[in-house]
Amino acid sequence: MERRTFLGLAAASAATSALPACKSAAPPSQPAASGTFESVGTLSQLAQAGDRLDTQVGTAPITLVKKPDSGDLIAISRVCPHAGCTVEWRSETTLFACPCHNSLFSPTGEVVQGPATQPLATYPVKVEGETILVQG
Ligand code: FES
Repeated sequence: MERRTFLGLAAASAATSALPACKSAAPPSQPAASGTFESVGTLSQLAQAGDRLDTQVGTAPITLVKKPDSGDLIAISRVCPHAGCTVEWRSETTLFACPCHNSLFSPTGEVVQGPATQPLATYPVKVEGETILVQG
């Protein structure tokens, strides 16, 4: 083996062994809160949407839900915890469905069917007057 070839192989081997182990592409189960609340809609918009409003906090897709039993508001991430696809609300089944690998989530984000093993993340919510604020 020529010296140049040997050194090239040795450098490639060193570079490969220095790479970190492959990590899962799954996003964290809870989004990193920045501490800042931002306006994501109004109570009127939520009521007009039937107490389930798709919106976003920052660039993250979320669904605001008014719980029928308590009237509490929750902000549910629509980023699937399995591999990061965007889940969609299916009114015919009253479930969130992931189009990538068919995970299903309850109306409040709990796993109904895998492969996802973590629930949809939630964000802190508060209301000031008519405005709904979510911590992104
Ligand atoms: S990304 Fe949603 S089930 Fe895989």
